[in-house]
Amino acid sequence: MIVGVPRERYPGERRVALVPAVIPGLAKAGLQVVVEAEAGVEAGYLDADYAEKGARILSSRSELFGAADIVVQVLCHGSNDKTGDEDLPLLRRGQVLIGFLRPLGTLTALKEIAGAGVISFAVELMPRTTRAQSMDALSSMATISGYKAVLMAADRLPRLFPMMTTAAGTITPARVLVIGAGVAGLQAIAFARRLGAIASAYDVRPAAKEQVLSLGGRFVELPIEAGDAQDVRGYAKAQDEEFYRKQRQLLARVVAESDVVITAAVIPGKKSPILVTEEMVKSMAPRSVIVDVAAERGGNCACTAGGEIVLKHGVTIIGLYNLASTVPYHASQMYARNLSAFLLHMVKDGRLQLDANDEIIRETLLTRDGEVVNPIVRKFFSLPALAAKP
Ligand SMILES: NC(=O)c1ccc[n+]([C@@H]2O[C@H](COP(=O)([O-])OP(=O)(O)OC[C@H]3O[C@@H](n4cnc5c(N)ncnc54)[C@H](O)[C@@H]3O)[C@@H](O)[C@H]2O)c1
Repeated sequence: MIVGVPRERYPGERRVALVPAVIPGLAKAGLQVVVEAEAGVEAGYLDADYAEKGARILSSRSELFGAADIVVQVLCHGSNDKTGDEDLPLLRRGQVLIGFLRPLGTLTALKEIAGAGVISFAVELMPRTTRAQSMDALSSMATISGYKAVLMAADRLPRLFPMMTTAAGTITPARVLVIGAGVAGLQAIAFARRLGAIASAYDVRPAAKEQVLSLGGRFVELPIEAGDAQDVRGYAKAQDEEFYRKQRQLLARVVAESDVVITAAVIPGKKSPILVTEEMVKSMAPRSVIVDVAAERGGNCACTAGGEIVLKHGVTIIGLYNLASTVPYHASQMYARNLSAFLLHMVKDGRLQLDANDEIIRETLLTRDGEVVNPIVRKFFSLPALAAKP
């Protein structure tokens, strides 16, 4: 079987779906790899590096799609809303497509993917189980986003992060507050601590407290309890507006005392809750920094400008998208390892074995035979359940 790696086309995207290091492992399982010319250049992987590991380089994108039984991408149509549809005519019935497909994004895009006849797998739907951990691309990318959020904040903040005792006096450490201690938030706490800041965090899920403390962070206790905070997949559940109102009220003082606020509170498939209001931004010290990691999903701060860095009420607010793509070498390496683990899971003796009883395959399968088949996605878009196939 042939696995094709097209060059990413989303403007500014620098990652690549597979890196040379995973090719020998795939070859052992009977998977040959073809790569579109210069697909890895932006991430630091040259065509020659791929060729050396046994990949074939193709200069034509349509030739690559034509040759591949399985196409692997970072941003497929669905998550690439700028140029993703250009690939639709290149896909063919029965071909496998794996990547970020934004399964809870827009139904139009999903129907277009289904219409191409591909058997698509959305990495966002990977179950959060121990077995699937090595294939969890969302966690890999969130890890990088959390790290990069701290780095950008440290770069913009007019203060030092660590405490320093010098002949010119003692420098007090920066205070970093993380709202939303998921994978990105926890990485932000760990890295902010490594840079010497005092890091504290808040999350609605009670389980987050222990994780924050284990990283040496302080947990901000708010005297409100989220009803039913966590769903069966380990994600936060949306709360009502009254809860968010109370949460904002209680967070106000902690935000005002922070030099850096990193917000990473998201609810799958929903617009992110506003947790930092304009009033709270005004209360922060001049040139404090907010990094809104949730910007792409609507943002947690009322003053975030999506995709931009703005100065509002004296506070720098970073709402850049796609932070993982700004560290493309390691983002691609981690993503490639996730994808190759997934491919090796699906392929036995050089052939695809799509076992519908396998939880990993069943839960990530998005489209097949011209239909959006994933039950979670169908329910999300209020599509009628599909009749079980005999
Ligand atoms: N294989 C596995 O077992 C596995 C893999 C990945 C993640 N996880 C776990 O899943 C959980 C969620 O991870 P994620 O990073 O993907 O989540 P996410 O990206 O969906 O959300 C980020 C965080 O925002 C929080 N949040 C949502 N609304 C909030 C609000 N109003 N106020 C404060 N915080 C709010 C969520 O609780 C979550 O922790 C974590 O506990 C993580 O450790 C488990």
